[in-house]
Amino acid sequence: MAKLDFYGHATFGLTTEDDTRIIIDPFFAENPWTEVEVNKVEADFIFCTHGHFDHFADAIPLAKASGAKFVGSFELVEYVETQGVTDVHPMHIGGGWDFSFGRVKMVTAVHGGRVYGEGAEAYTTNPGGFVFDLGPGRRLYHAGDTGLTLDMKLLRDKVDIALLPIGDNFTMGLEDAVTAVEFIRPAIVIPCHYQTWPYIEQDPETFKTMVGDRATVEILEPGQSSYDF
Ligand code: NI
Ligand code: MN
Repeated sequence: MAKLDFYGHATFGLTTEDDTRIIIDPFFAENPWTEVEVNKVEADFIFCTHGHFDHFADAIPLAKASGAKFVGSFELVEYVETQGVTDVHPMHIGGGWDFSFGRVKMVTAVHGGRVYGEGAEAYTTNPGGFVFDLGPGRRLYHAGDTGLTLDMKLLRDKVDIALLPIGDNFTMGLEDAVTAVEFIRPAIVIPCHYQTWPYIEQDPETFKTMVGDRATVEILEPGQSSYDF
């Protein structure tokens, strides 16, 4: 049994069957959805979809506090290395890697590539998403920040659980996220990247109604609900 924890915004914890602890897009200290302190988070791996503040701000503190391996695009990895993070794994769009817990593929996202952080001015990257293949029925897609893209059709029937941004303004909104569900055809959809700030206020219950019988929408409350799969 694998377990998914939602910390709010786009920050998820994924615990695999072999008890590997993965944090995706660590955003704790200034995340209004969570009280969790980054120093108390246990992690073996950190995956970052892109370098924006709300996905990357706590990546370096978490890597240093937990000793987790940092995984991201080549450019993000180059940057974290300048900040003293030594246990890293660079990837890039279209590539996959067999990690100890399963295969992860980095896939496209259409979004901005600036990297947040001290001395990061020289670093920019392609944002991405990740597909974690934890076995049959356990292929989990974290879309990162993205607009709707035809590339999502490449994920059709290759994803069981899709974590999709629905907040609009910076990423897909409700209507486009429903089209993404049509493109990908996951069994389960978990909405994220909404309600954190006024720019992205959206109602996940409305999204659930709009998705209808295309997929099961699981609305996770940060800090209380986790999803077992
Ligand atoms: Ni972003
Ligand atoms: Mn974002």
